[in-house]
Amino acid sequence: MAGWDLLLTDARIATLAGDSPDYGEISDGAIAIADGSIAWLGPKGAQPAGKPRKTRSLGGQWVTPALIDCHTHLVFAGERSQEFEQRLEGASYEEIAKAGGGILSTVRATRAASAEELFDAALPRVQALAAEGVATIEIKSGYGLDVTNELKMLEVARRLGESTDLTIRTTLLAAHTVPPEFEGNADDYIDLIGNEMLPEVSKRGLADAVDAYCESIAFSAPQIAKLFRQAIDFDLPVKLHADQLSDGGGAELAAYFNALSADHLEYASATGVEAMAKAGAVAVLLPGAFLTLGETQRPPIDALRTNGVPIAVASDCNPGTSPICSLRSAMILASRLFGLTPLECLAGTTREAARALGLSHDRGTLEVGKRADIAIWNISHPRELAYWIGTPQLADLIIGGHTTRP
Ligand code: NIG
Ligand code: FE
Repeated sequence: MAGWDLLLTDARIATLAGDSPDYGEISDGAIAIADGSIAWLGPKGAQPAGKPRKTRSLGGQWVTPALIDCHTHLVFAGERSQEFEQRLEGASYEEIAKAGGGILSTVRATRAASAEELFDAALPRVQALAAEGVATIEIKSGYGLDVTNELKMLEVARRLGESTDLTIRTTLLAAHTVPPEFEGNADDYIDLIGNEMLPEVSKRGLADAVDAYCESIAFSAPQIAKLFRQAIDFDLPVKLHADQLSDGGGAELAAYFNALSADHLEYASATGVEAMAKAGAVAVLLPGAFLTLGETQRPPIDALRTNGVPIAVASDCNPGTSPICSLRSAMILASRLFGLTPLECLAGTTREAARALGLSHDRGTLEVGKRADIAIWNISHPRELAYWIGTPQLADLIIGGHTTRP
């Protein structure tokens, strides 16, 4: 057809299209791109006539949807390797948090940092993800915990999107933990989020969703329910850090509020999983945090599968529980630690990750009409993406129809 900007030919395409349990392979195919979107794709020979402005033969290389990291906290200052050492010596994450470390230690560093410093620290993390084929990243606030600093974090995240080719989706995670000013007074802090942060964030369009941490060291289900009602009033979808260290009914809570996703889920109950299935909430698995915290209870993978809950995989990049700026590593860990198949790992970082961000309509699979966010790989089968460790395999990353790597 006339008007194609780019035609990729001689490609082995893993479309991930549909919900079928395979890669949606087109073994010798072509992809036509126009105006940043996929205008046509299919097997060689079925291609409609037309003169693309540019044709590129991939010589049999594999292409997949560009990867999507649907859960990160990559805007932060400082680092917490000392706590890592303390944990190796036997201290628990909860003990460190209760002693004023943990999330609060990163809150102190992040409050003290300027927006510029936060941006400069975060940009290489974004670039590290992109170097592995990631074109869409979700970034949460949650290390500011007051109006000024939560807004500062979200503005930095938005700026990362404006300064790179990547899509950045931002999430207000002000309910990450109780800030020192509100110690013993979590209810008042929840009111501050609802009455001051949400209106400002909504007015300035700074967040695409609202998240909270449901855990004994953070917020209770009733506190989060109150916040989620307000978020929904502002037309913001919700998601939840749920059942990571204990069963706090997080999966049920997320399902009740039609959350986009419930994340972590190590201790999610059978009823929680069933509720998620009914609500269509995505289970976002975060094996980097599981590994770093030395957890032993795995998320209920079989129950998620049998109930048909979509499973996504994300890096959870953060300085406390998942110092991992690599979505490929999360895929690798999900296969080793949780027994996800390589196909589940790839679907979990493309199609299901898009679903977890409410972006299924325009990305996550290779289909006509979706964004031309395409990763080109030096591999002989896409299962290798969950197999090799520390092996660079990205040949090229096309974002919105444009090549981003030299
Ligand atoms: O996803 N669980 C809470 N939030 C992060 C940890 C953040 C931190 O420890 O700084 C997580 O694991
Ligand atoms: Fe997290």
